[in-house]
Amino acid sequence: MYTGSYMLDGLQENISLKNYSTMRLGGVARYLVEVQDYHDIQRIVEWADSQSLPVVMIGQGSNIIWKDEGYPGVVIVNRVPGYELQDQGEQQFVIVGAGESWDEVVERTVASGLSGLECLSLIPGTVGATPVQNVGAYGKEVADCLVCVQAYDRVEKRMVVIPKSDCGFSYRNSRFKGDDHGRFFITSVTFSLTIRKPMPPFYASLQAYFGKHSISSSDITAQVVRDAVIAIRTEKLPDPKVVANAGSFFHNPIISTYQLDEIKEKYPGIVYWSVGDDEAKISAGWLLEQLGLKGYHEPNTGMAIWDKQALVFVNEKATSTAQLIAFRDAVMKEVKARFGIDLVQEPQLLP
Ligand code: EPU
Repeated sequence: MYTGSYMLDGLQENISLKNYSTMRLGGVARYLVEVQDYHDIQRIVEWADSQSLPVVMIGQGSNIIWKDEGYPGVVIVNRVPGYELQDQGEQQFVIVGAGESWDEVVERTVASGLSGLECLSLIPGTVGATPVQNVGAYGKEVADCLVCVQAYDRVEKRMVVIPKSDCGFSYRNSRFKGDDHGRFFITSVTFSLTIRKPMPPFYASLQAYFGKHSISSSDITAQVVRDAVIAIRTEKLPDPKVVANAGSFFHNPIISTYQLDEIKEKYPGIVYWSVGDDEAKISAGWLLEQLGLKGYHEPNTGMAIWDKQALVFVNEKATSTAQLIAFRDAVMKEVKARFGIDLVQEPQLLP
């Protein structure tokens, strides 16, 4: 039972979570608090434990869907600042506070002439959120240049440094999202960047952009790649500040080449990428487009699908997460019926 005398500084009560998710849905958090450093985190986690309250840490809420029942414990909003460059010659390390805005960090590294993060330009959210789902775009993922993550370990009750090899990274996944969900509160992330120019091969849509704008390989710098990514993303994806959405709503599913061959017989135009010899990653956006869902507006739930990228769910008029879930389930059912594929949701449903 909460007693007033144990109330912590900065703790807010009964806060609507709609403002803490770019999908703008969800109930109320019993408590919410912003943190600036590891000491804040430790203090709050210990307090929450003493009150038997669950704790969750968030960044800018760009990959979170809150349930309508809200959050029964403490929502910690990560605002841990920091940006430090360590010059090691050709290789440079950048240590960044988990609460920093991701794209501002990418912009800064690129402006310093460093490459490594440029393909991940314009991705919404904070630095600390990027390792959790191993953010990826245009052929690169955060794991590619991540060195280590610094975090408060809730189990050991101390700060730990987790090297990349212990982060359990895979496509849009990590131990922070999987087995160890809720255990680590990330405070900073270290990346290894280089003063060398980005080298081909580039992701197909980037290559097409360079061709269209007569940009030759020798002209390609991190800034050129960043500018291209920004142009492509702006053209295809809605700005979450303007249109409520959480980016890709599903993973691109990985299926066996046997299943792919079966689908190909009926749908020879299917978009896929080979993964090793036995598996293929299918464009989930393409699947949804085949169902005629691109630009679809669903009147009952108030949900819609973006007209330039079918993988993006948009909250136009929905007022509850239940509506989003009803829409999601109907879409998943149609995909299963038509293609025999089970889609997996990409943003995390909390709690
Ligand atoms: N496609 C369609 N119809 C669509 C969407 C895509 O046919 O409506 C096909 C097209 O052939 C297109 C191909 O799929 O050329 C790939 O599309 P795109 O480059 O837009 O990428 P994606 O596979 O749909 C993934 C990420 C995005 C990331 C882009 C670019 C996932 C789940 N999504 O989408 O990430 O920006 O690649 O690299 O892996 C996010 O996670 O929020 C996100 C936006």
